[in-house]
Amino acid sequence: MSDVVPVALGARAYDVRIGEGLLARAGELIAPFAPRGRVFVVADKRVAMLHGEALSAGLNAAGLDVVGLMIPPGEETKSFQWLAQVCAELIQAGIERRDLVIAFGGGVAGDLVGFASGIVKRGVDFVQIPTTLLAQVDSSVGGKTAIDTPEGKNLVGLFYQPRLVLADLGVLRTLPERELRAGYAEVVKYGLLGDAAFYDWCEANVGKLLACEPEALAYAVRTCVAAKARIVAADEHESGERALLNLGHTFAHALETQTGYGASLLHGEAVAAGMGLAFALSADLGLCTAQDATRVRRHLAAAGFEMDLRKLPGAPYDADALLALMSRDKKAENGKLTLILARAIGAAFVQKDTPAAAIRALLARETS
Ligand SMILES: NC(=O)c1ccc[n+]([C@@H]2O[C@H](COP(=O)([O-])OP(=O)(O)OC[C@H]3O[C@@H](n4cnc5c(N)ncnc54)[C@H](O)[C@@H]3O)[C@@H](O)[C@H]2O)c1
Ligand SMILES: [Zn+2]
Repeated sequence: MSDVVPVALGARAYDVRIGEGLLARAGELIAPFAPRGRVFVVADKRVAMLHGEALSAGLNAAGLDVVGLMIPPGEETKSFQWLAQVCAELIQAGIERRDLVIAFGGGVAGDLVGFASGIVKRGVDFVQIPTTLLAQVDSSVGGKTAIDTPEGKNLVGLFYQPRLVLADLGVLRTLPERELRAGYAEVVKYGLLGDAAFYDWCEANVGKLLACEPEALAYAVRTCVAAKARIVAADEHESGERALLNLGHTFAHALETQTGYGASLLHGEAVAAGMGLAFALSADLGLCTAQDATRVRRHLAAAGFEMDLRKLPGAPYDADALLALMSRDKKAENGKLTLILARAIGAAFVQKDTPAAAIRALLARETS
């Protein structure tokens, strides 16, 4: 059983297939995109150790010729060094324009391998096989690829859409609980930004989801992917609506910058705190009710996220330092802050010219 969510991007349209057991069927599903019958799997090493055999068996079953390459796990792999390394290995292994690359792993593998696919031989087709909850609901869909540089995260990259995304829900069972929870922050994000009914579902079903119950996982991944597909189809290059996906992210990036984007504070953990702050600020500015802001924080805390900035890894945080980092974030224009705020749960919008004084007052209250 699997669901198919189409991403309607004209000539670049593709399907996201979601279900159990998709690795075993990978060959049959991917073969139409590999006219030369050859695929280059670039896998996160940890994922390869856990699920590489299942993927190889699935690919071999359809008679595909498989070349396997490995990248180390971790954000540090999203670097120029590893981009060069992956391109070099693909070329040395004899890749040609009509071959196919498969990115196998979480968002790190997807972002790096997608980028490498977009530039090697001036672009070869690629397929995403996302293996984290975050990657299944967010990073594998929409075509953003990137590496990090010393100047910051995701600053060098391409919009380069995959030909297919295979989200095998079964692989999520080996994901460490903390990584699963971090992905859940992005799941809740879709409810908070545009779907109040889905947010209600999250509140009622978070336990089942974090226990990887098949029906809950399938429903959540399908709902999030459908939301992301709709937003990306409407605004592929983020000139408008796609910015809503950054709910909580300007706050989160400031927190992550302070902790060095390491394992002490995962992206999803920062996003959970950031979404709490975005709703608190929306309430402070009279845009949404205080009840909505409280409800969001309560739910995220109940889901296991630290919502108190004084206790969050990286604390103590400084209000002025965080504000300075937020102003430097790429969403700041002319010294004024553009933030994603909300009129209610399920009703986020792009707020230009958010008064810095209100943000500072909120951060001062939260950090002291
Ligand atoms: N392109 C986009 O639109 C987009 C959107 C959001 C995030 N991102 C990027 O995604 C990255 C984060 O992705 P992530 O959270 O998936 O992290 P990740 O790729 O680093 O994976 C997290 C950890 O889980 C391990 N892992 C992956 N799948 C596993 C499995 N099935 N079982 C056991 N372990 C597994 C990995 O080895 C790694 O240690 C960031 O670099 C972020 O910038 C991109
Ligand atoms: Zn995110």
